[in-house]
Amino acid sequence: MSDNTEPQIMPQGAPPSAAKPSMGAATSRVDGRLKVTGAARYGSDFFGGVNPAHAYLATSAIARGRITRLDEAEARKVPGVLEILTYRNVGDRIKPGKILSQKGYMGTSIAPLASDLVQHDGQIVAMVVAETFEAAREAAHRLRIEYAAEPPSATFDSPGLQSISAESASREGEQSGSEEKPKVGDAAAALAAAPVTVDGRYETPTQHHNPIELFTTACAWADGKLTVWESSQNMYGFQNGLAEQLGMAPSDIRVISPYIGGAFGSRGTLTQRTAIVALAAQRVQRPVRLEATRDQGYTIATYRAETRHRVRLGAGQDGKLQALIHEGWEVSSRPDNYKVGGTDATTRLYACPNVDSEVTIVHADRNTPGFMRSPPEVPYIFALESAMDELAVALRMDPIELRRVNDTMHEPIKGLPYTSRTLMPCFDAAAKEFGWDKRDPRPGSMRDGDWLVGLGCATTLYPTNMGAAAVRVILTPQGTVKVQTAGHEIGTGIYTVVALMAVSGLGVPIEKVTVELGDTELPPAPGAGGSNSTASIATVVAKACEQIRSRIAAAAAAAVDGPFHGLDPAGLVLADGALRAPDGSTEPLDVAMGRAAGGAIEAYAENIPHGVPDGALKKLYQGQATLMGGAKLKDRIQFAFGAQFVEVRVHAQTREIRVPRLVGAFAAGRIVNPKAAKSQLMGGQIWGMSAALHEATEIDRRAARYYNDDLAEYLIPVNADVQQVTTIMLPEQETQVNDLGIKGIGELGNVGLNAAVANAVFHATGVRVRELPIRAEKLLAASV
Ligand code: MOS
Repeated sequence: MSDNTEPQIMPQGAPPSAAKPSMGAATSRVDGRLKVTGAARYGSDFFGGVNPAHAYLATSAIARGRITRLDEAEARKVPGVLEILTYRNVGDRIKPGKILSQKGYMGTSIAPLASDLVQHDGQIVAMVVAETFEAAREAAHRLRIEYAAEPPSATFDSPGLQSISAESASREGEQSGSEEKPKVGDAAAALAAAPVTVDGRYETPTQHHNPIELFTTACAWADGKLTVWESSQNMYGFQNGLAEQLGMAPSDIRVISPYIGGAFGSRGTLTQRTAIVALAAQRVQRPVRLEATRDQGYTIATYRAETRHRVRLGAGQDGKLQALIHEGWEVSSRPDNYKVGGTDATTRLYACPNVDSEVTIVHADRNTPGFMRSPPEVPYIFALESAMDELAVALRMDPIELRRVNDTMHEPIKGLPYTSRTLMPCFDAAAKEFGWDKRDPRPGSMRDGDWLVGLGCATTLYPTNMGAAAVRVILTPQGTVKVQTAGHEIGTGIYTVVALMAVSGLGVPIEKVTVELGDTELPPAPGAGGSNSTASIATVVAKACEQIRSRIAAAAAAAVDGPFHGLDPAGLVLADGALRAPDGSTEPLDVAMGRAAGGAIEAYAENIPHGVPDGALKKLYQGQATLMGGAKLKDRIQFAFGAQFVEVRVHAQTREIRVPRLVGAFAAGRIVNPKAAKSQLMGGQIWGMSAALHEATEIDRRAARYYNDDLAEYLIPVNADVQQVTTIMLPEQETQVNDLGIKGIGELGNVGLNAAVANAVFHATGVRVRELPIRAEKLLAASV
C-alpha cells in the first residue's frame, strides 16, 4: 500500500451515496495562491479601518493576590497615550461570562478587569491605548503596580491545591459533554483475579498551541454597531459571547475572520481581551487594535494542561483484557472546572468485560486551560497505549496481536456497535509498509553501529462529531457559483472542500466557484472544533446544491418543448456545464436554467444532524446558543481509527533520540480531498512526535509562572527533526454517521503517536519513560 489509493471522482449530480468507500479527486487548495503570495488576509492583517489607535496589555507579575497600588502618572506622561483601562474604570462594564463547557462562550470565567483580584500569573491588569504601538508599550511598562501577593499553587504536588471529581463537577451542572463516568462489571475484582497485570503511572506536560498568528484584535464602532476583526474558530459563539459581555444584541456585532493563522483549539473560545478592546474603541471613539505579545498569549488564552494517569490492566494468557481501570488527574484554574476527560475514549477502545474510570480536576492558581488539538485523546491515549505496550511485554506477545485479540465491533460499556471500525486493517497496512516483520521483539536487540534501533506502534482514534450548519449557494446561468457560510479556515482546507462539494453538486469547474467564509453576516456554521467542519459543512452544501439541481431538473422534465420532457427529474444531473439525462441527451446550463428561473438560482439550506436539537440554528441566529460540539447517534458509537508506527534511533552513549521514520495508516470514512487530508494527517503525525519528544511548557513552581514562553525556548520540531513520514489512507465504508459518510480527520493524526514513540524508545533501550516529553536526560538518568 503506498501513500494514497487512486483517487476517484465523486459522483456528480445527485448527492453522492455513501454506500461504497470513496476518495474524492486530490485537489490543490483553492486558497493556495492567496496564501503563498500573502494576499490572504488574516485577523491580524486588519487594523480596524482608518487611523486606528494601538493597544498594549500590562499583565500581572504575581499569580495570586490583589492589586494594592496602580499608579498611572508616569504612564500618562508618555506622548500619545489616549486611555488606560484598569479595574477602576472597567469593573462591571464587562460581564464575566461562562466557559464553553458550562454552556457559555469563554475560555475562562476569570474577568481580569472586574476587580483588584489576581488569579493567575500574566493576567491582564491594564490595557493602554495610544497613538502608536510603541507609545502604548512604553506607557504600559511605566505603570507602577503593587500587589499583596499570596503563595500560589502551581501544579500537581504544590501545597494549597483543591480537587473535585469530574463526576461531581458534572452533577453540579458545571460540565457539558461527557456526563458519565464510564464503568461496567467489577474491575477491581477482575484485576485481582487476572493472571497477567500491569499498573502504570503516566504524565503529560503543559503545552501551548503557539499559533504563528498572535492573539490580535481590532474593533471599530459605527452607529452603535461593533465590528471585530479577530481570528476565530467559533465566530457565532464569539458574536454571542461578546454580546453577552457587552450587554448588546448579537446582531449589532459583526465578526470577520476569513483566514486564521493557526488555531489548534486556542481560538475556539472567546478570550477576555476582546471585550476590553471593544470598550477601549468606544472610549477613544476610534478603531483600536491590540496585538498581544507571544508571551502574553501563554496566559491570556488557553493551553493544554498537564495530566496524570494511573492505568491498570488485567489480561488472560491469551492477551484478552479482563480488567481495565483508568484514573486521570487534570489541572484547571481556581474558578473553572475545565476538563478533557479522555476516559470516554480509553474505556471504549478495546473489548473488556470489567472497566472502571475516574477523572479528578485539580484547581491551581493558573489560567484556565482549554481545547488543544485532540484535547482528551492526546494525553489519555498516551497512557492507555503505553500500558498496552507494557502488557504486551508482560505477556511476551506481539503488540499488534494484543490489539487484534482485543479488537471489537461493540464498545464494552453499553455494548453499542461502532458505525464502522477499520482499526486492524490500519495496523496491517501500516505494519507492512513499515516492515514490522523485521522487528526483533527483545528490547535493545536491534542496533546499527552506535545507534540502538527501536520500533513501536500504537492505536489512534478520534470521535466523529457534527454540528448544525446553514449555507447559501448561488448558481448563475453562466455557470459561476458562490457559496456562503460562516465556516472557519483554520488551515485545514475547508475553502477547497466547500468548492469541491459545489463542483460535484452543480457540475461546474472549480475555477468558477467562489467560496465565502469567516463572517457572521453569512449563514451559521458550527465552530471548527472536534474535527466536525468537513462533515457538517459538506453535508449542507450538498443539500443546497441538490435543491438547485432538482429545481432545474423539474423545470426541464416539465418542458414539453425540451429534450427531457417526461423524464424522471431525479435522473437528470448537472455535469460539465450542462443538464444531462441518462440517455445521453443534454442541454446547456443557461438554457436549462432559463426554464427554471429568470436568472441566477439561489438556494439556502440547513442541516440539523442526529442528536442536535431542532431549534439549534434558530437559537444560534438569536444568539442563545453556542454550536460547538457534536451530534451523536444514540444507539451507535462513532470513531475514526488508525495505527501509528515509529522508528527511533537512540545513541548508545549520549542517548540522543532521532526519529528516522513515521508510518501511519488511517480510516475515516469518505475523504473529500485526499491531498489536503494527507497533509492534515501528516501534520498530525509530526505534532504527535513533537508532543512525545519536544514540547513542554515549563512552570516555575514558586511563582506559578511559565518560563519558556516564546518560540526560542518552547521546543517544536524543525525540518531536521522530521525525516521520512508516510501517510496511508484506507478507504472505509461508512453509511451511518451522516449522508456522505464523512468522519473527519483533523485531529486523528496526532493521537497515539506519543505512545508509539515511547514504545519505540522502550524497544530500543529497555527503558520505559512514562512522563512526556522523552528527552535524553531521562534516558541517561534511567541507565546509570
Ligand atoms: Mo480543536 S482542539 O477541537 O480546535
